[in-house]
Amino acid sequence: MKTHVSLIVLVCTMIISACTTSPEPAKEIIILPQPVEIHAQDGRFIISGENTKIFTDQWEENYYQAMDLLKTIWPQEIQAGESEKKSDILIQYDANLSAEAYELTISPKQIKILCADSSGAYYAVQSLSQILLQGDIIKEKTHIPCVKIKDSPRFAYRGMHLDVCRHFFTVDEVKNYLDIMGAHKFNRFHWHLTEDQGWRIEIKKYPRLTEIGAYRPETVIGKNTGEYDSTPHGGFYTQDDIREIVAYAHQNCIEVIPEIEMPGHSLAALAAYPELGCTGGPYEVAKTWGVFDDVYCAGNDKTMAFMKGALDEVIELFPGEYIHIGGDECPKTRWETCPRCQWRMKTHKLADEHELQSWFIQEIEHYLNNKGKRIIGWDEILEGGLAENATVMSWRGEARGIEAAESGHDVIMSPNNECYFDHYQAEPIDNEPFAIGGMTTVEDVYHYEPIPEELDAEFAHHILGVQANLWSEYIPTESHLQYMMLPRATALAEVLWTSKDNKDYDRFLTSIEIMKSVYDENGWNYAKHVFE
Ligand code: ACM
Ligand code: ZN
Repeated sequence: MKTHVSLIVLVCTMIISACTTSPEPAKEIIILPQPVEIHAQDGRFIISGENTKIFTDQWEENYYQAMDLLKTIWPQEIQAGESEKKSDILIQYDANLSAEAYELTISPKQIKILCADSSGAYYAVQSLSQILLQGDIIKEKTHIPCVKIKDSPRFAYRGMHLDVCRHFFTVDEVKNYLDIMGAHKFNRFHWHLTEDQGWRIEIKKYPRLTEIGAYRPETVIGKNTGEYDSTPHGGFYTQDDIREIVAYAHQNCIEVIPEIEMPGHSLAALAAYPELGCTGGPYEVAKTWGVFDDVYCAGNDKTMAFMKGALDEVIELFPGEYIHIGGDECPKTRWETCPRCQWRMKTHKLADEHELQSWFIQEIEHYLNNKGKRIIGWDEILEGGLAENATVMSWRGEARGIEAAESGHDVIMSPNNECYFDHYQAEPIDNEPFAIGGMTTVEDVYHYEPIPEELDAEFAHHILGVQANLWSEYIPTESHLQYMMLPRATALAEVLWTSKDNKDYDRFLTSIEIMKSVYDENGWNYAKHVFE
């Protein structure tokens, strides 16, 4: 009898242990942008106990972005673990991985992140944040599915641009923009800081730039209708604000590229310092949109000294590799009749005003190169001769990008048809907020291929990546800005991160539901068309 009871107990124990040890079956999870490899595994990691122990081989210092992000997304308090084995989460350096790459393995016992730099760790945690949203809450505990992910970006330059001049966005609004970028694994923020309609960066040597140049008394209604809103508009970032934003961007593994526009789009600076223009003014900060004839005088030595003086302070504020010098849409009308500009052309044996612009940009390039910075310019900088080390941002289609790459220059693709997020994004446009024009749908963005077929393969490595631009003439508020950005930025993130073979628009349209949760969770506004 005794044996009989033992046998029953044994069988029961076997059944119970079979029930408790058989792992929950693998659950497909979605990460956007789609990783290089993602394999669902049986089992769940259950967030239990009083807190979560984390062990890193290079605590805080190298992984502080990942650690800080983890603290904001993780449901429990994070504490330092004593050892690799006894910790719930492990972050480890792996020299075999490339820049920005990571491996993320979630097993029932541990979440393990491998990376070779701080960006890799940060992107692993961004992916983990999406996985958390797909966990199940069972008896108040979060169960997250087990998975193995190997991931790295296709392109090194993954950019978003923001025009804060046509409409000003506050420090907090810019930070939110950087959060959206971080969540999509973008890594370059092109900050368009100077324009006809407003100069937005404090330069201590030239205080009138922000005293005068940061404000306009009113703004035209619609597309240069001749009617004005009678509402002053303006604002600028102090140097402390700039440092704060640069640090915040760094926290999101984003490098900030300031754009100090020259020689065109400079009316706000001319309003502040009229002696820098060909006619001497007076000038006004622009209240309408467009391209204006009054630009910096390229013949005036004071202009060059001013540019260099302003750039000295810019260099100090932005630790990144690049400074964007604009270069687009600079009419040559004033230069054609300006004695100083004509004198400059004569003394430097410049054949025409395009060469004069090229001389201007090259002067600035030499100055910046000597200070350890590289320049980026819009594709007009090809006209009249491209500066020696310049990187070209190809916006009027791809042809100038191809030309620049084939002459050995680095290129960032930003063709207006696919990368201008100030365009309309859906028909009928009457149902959309008023926009500059154009039509760039989520699908158009998704299908964009940054390496043009026409480009000789040996130069493909010069295409560093892509950037989408958000010009703000018709985007006066943050919620409108986010509406124009999302979900097109989500589509662009796959163009930039996901390998060509892993791209699939149908899969993307299903997967994007996860980003809807991310947008909602963060309170970001977005266009709803692809979710309907
Ligand atoms: C540009 O859109 N003017 C670069
Ligand atoms: Zn001039």
